[in-house]
Amino acid sequence: MKASRAGLLTAIAVISLSLAACGGGSAGESQGRDSQTVWKLAFNQTEDHPQYKAAKQLGELLDEATEGRYTVRPYANEQLGSQTQAIQNLSNGTIEMMWASSGTLENFNDDFIVFNLPYMFDSIDAQEAVLAQPEELQDLYTSLEDSKNITILTGVHAGVRNIYNRRQPIREPADLSGLKIRVQQSDSQVRMIELMGAVASPLDTGEIYSALQTGVLDGAENNETVYVSLKHSEVAPYYSYTRHLLIPDYLLVSTKALNEMSPQDRAALLELIPQVQQTANELFAEFVASSIEQGLATGVQFNDDVDVEAFKSSVQPLIADSVSTNESRQKMYQMVQEANAAHPA
Ligand code: GCU
Repeated sequence: MKASRAGLLTAIAVISLSLAACGGGSAGESQGRDSQTVWKLAFNQTEDHPQYKAAKQLGELLDEATEGRYTVRPYANEQLGSQTQAIQNLSNGTIEMMWASSGTLENFNDDFIVFNLPYMFDSIDAQEAVLAQPEELQDLYTSLEDSKNITILTGVHAGVRNIYNRRQPIREPADLSGLKIRVQQSDSQVRMIELMGAVASPLDTGEIYSALQTGVLDGAENNETVYVSLKHSEVAPYYSYTRHLLIPDYLLVSTKALNEMSPQDRAALLELIPQVQQTANELFAEFVASSIEQGLATGVQFNDDVDVEAFKSSVQPLIADSVSTNESRQKMYQMVQEANAAHPA
């Protein structure tokens, strides 16, 4: 019964979308059966990703909790634009939600940098413990409301990032010398990869595969799931465990769309957020394991013989410059240190 209702809602969402496309309206406007409001959620990874599944679950639960007044429809594979384009679309009100990397957000508020620094979190549990304290992160989560129309609802684990490339296993910083490595559109990651020994090339996700294929890039850095599901593994088969970054992803919502909800519907949405966080976090380990299996089956060389300490000391200047400068960053840094002490590697 639940499935057919979801199917009906999906059909309505598609109709609303085509109406919106024809009439120039937004899918966030009330349209379709029972004036249901369908929020578009932009996502730059595949449909088997935990964040896609968590967003789908949110749509179903929100529909139930608001008696059909609201739902969320996720669009995978950059259908609504790259992450940087989607942020603009969210900001100008043409979409209502998205998953975004903390790396992308540091372009709007430097304080995001603290959780984006290399070797910041000692373990996945430490990262999740910090993200499980949204009340302590309220200043950060609301910091883009006035300037960008963006409210952050939650942060989730988004993998451990490692370096992969077309040429060779990477064991120490010298192995990266001269290699052109893709990073996210983030100043801290440009500096990070340079300090690690490579040449940085900031690009959107969708541009990476062909740049690797044609040799414009030598490599990139990401978790195993992105590496395998976006088929970078086929063109850059050396994946080396530098373990340099655990960078969170955040669930963003349009501040305006949030404010337009009735207090009752907004409370219903906010009550569902811990569930979204839990689903996205819990499914991640399994997704990594199946990605590694798939990578091995297609001939990837996973290399764990890496001098992590050498990479760690190479990036110390970035960490020193980034955390010492203001009070809110120091507070975030302190949260990380406490979580690291409670959840060591
Ligand atoms: C990860 C992360 C995304 C990010 C991507 C990237 O997949 O979850 O939010 O956009 O890496 O490196 O671009």
